[in-house]
Amino acid sequence: MRETNTLSPQKRRSPSVRRCTDDDFEAILRIINEAAAAYAGVIPKDCWHVPYMPRHELEDEIAAGVVFRGVEADGALAAVMGSQDVLDVSLIRHAYVRPAVQSRGLGSALLRSLRRRTKRPVLVGTWRAAAWAIRFYERHGFRRVPDEQIDRLLSTYWAIPRRQVETSVVLADQRWRR
Ligand SMILES: CC(C)(COP(=O)(O)OP(=O)(O)OC[C@H]1O[C@@H](n2cnc3c(N)ncnc32)[C@H](O)[C@@H]1OP(=O)(O)O)[C@@H](O)C(=O)NCCC(=O)NCCS
Repeated sequence: MRETNTLSPQKRRSPSVRRCTDDDFEAILRIINEAAAAYAGVIPKDCWHVPYMPRHELEDEIAAGVVFRGVEADGALAAVMGSQDVLDVSLIRHAYVRPAVQSRGLGSALLRSLRRRTKRPVLVGTWRAAAWAIRFYERHGFRRVPDEQIDRLLSTYWAIPRRQVETSVVLADQRWRR
């Protein structure tokens, strides 16, 4: 079912966000791996691999409770973003927009939609080297948590390899900071 906007003109212009279904699995995998090319030569070499997201890893993430929502462009899924409730927070997981349609507001529409859907504090982790992604979240009011808290947060709320913990940052929304 479409999650349409009703009130302000700004919201009316926003692309429609929908919940992804099992049928979207292949498209989600393709979008993630296509968009993750942005990390090549940017994140530490030992963290980069092709495909960036192997099929079994995406299956595991969905089984672990990551719920994907997406936006279509030209009639096909073109941007995806996952959310995962863990303990007392909601995590933004795997935010990817096909390179051909980046910077058109699709990622922002997804982020706004995911945030509207939860009353929990929202946290997002990304590569320390992905300056553009950090800027994207900062523009949406997220702020980096101090480095000394990253280790504790990543090991409390995320199940990611040790090396990724060392090379990531965590950003938190206003609810978390309150
Ligand atoms: C980071 C990412 C998810 C953001 O999604 P996006 O759809 O490109 O983001 P938006 O378009 O909503 O906003 C990004 C930029 O577009 C601009 N923008 C927003 N709406 C726009 C519109 N309608 N037309 C033109 N530009 C627009 C924003 O001001 C912003 O400006 P910037 O050029 O300074 O970055 C996406 O670029 C991506 O997949 N990147 C590669 C993978 C990645 O880094 N993922 C993050 C993992 S945590």
